[in-house]
Amino acid sequence: MVLTEETAFDPKEVVELYDSVGWRGYTRDVDSLCRGLANSHLVITARDESGGLLGLARTVSDDESICYVQDLLVNPKFHRRGIGRALLERLKERYAHCRFFLLSTDHESTPEGKRNHAFYRQLGFLSYEEKQMAGFGLPRIRPPRGRADA
Ligand SMILES: CC(C)(COP(=O)(O)OP(=O)(O)OC[C@H]1O[C@@H](n2cnc3c(N)ncnc32)[C@H](O)[C@@H]1OP(=O)(O)O)[C@@H](O)C(=O)NCCC(=O)NCCS
Repeated sequence: MVLTEETAFDPKEVVELYDSVGWRGYTRDVDSLCRGLANSHLVITARDESGGLLGLARTVSDDESICYVQDLLVNPKFHRRGIGRALLERLKERYAHCRFFLLSTDHESTPEGKRNHAFYRQLGFLSYEEKQMAGFGLPRIRPPRGRADA
């Protein structure tokens, strides 16, 4: 497996990867997905020896205080082979100087949450509650902007 920082993205290849984990919210708009990747602070890919894309991780960061891991995904055909661990360990090293190294994931009551919590705990992460923090986000569907914002 080869880990590489990449800045140019083949839409077909990234759609295949994001679709493989069911992340249709991204693949519905391929141009937006590719712009998001290009605008990320860092994108690392994991590829096999023939260049096939196995997984990817991307960050949003000021490279000083905060690194937020926005996406970490591995094609399910290659789960449990240490690829997710390798991607995240690389990011932990790269952003070791940042006081905050954060991410969000599904609630533990969901099947994805159970798997992801086991994974992140294995990699040394604490929940926000354990760090005496809380996470907040606006609802996905929000009222249209009022006139004051226009
Ligand atoms: C989460 C994800 C990235 C893990 O990638 P991976 O390459 O399969 O994980 P690794 O093989 O590096 O796992 C490292 C360790 O994490 C734990 N782990 C990983 N998957 C697990 C699972 N399904 N159940 C329990 N523990 C798990 C294990 O301790 C594992 O070590 P082991 O295989 O030696 O027991 C992968 O499942 C994925 O892409 N999921 C879909 C996308 C997603 O939900 N991403 C996270 C978004 S926040």
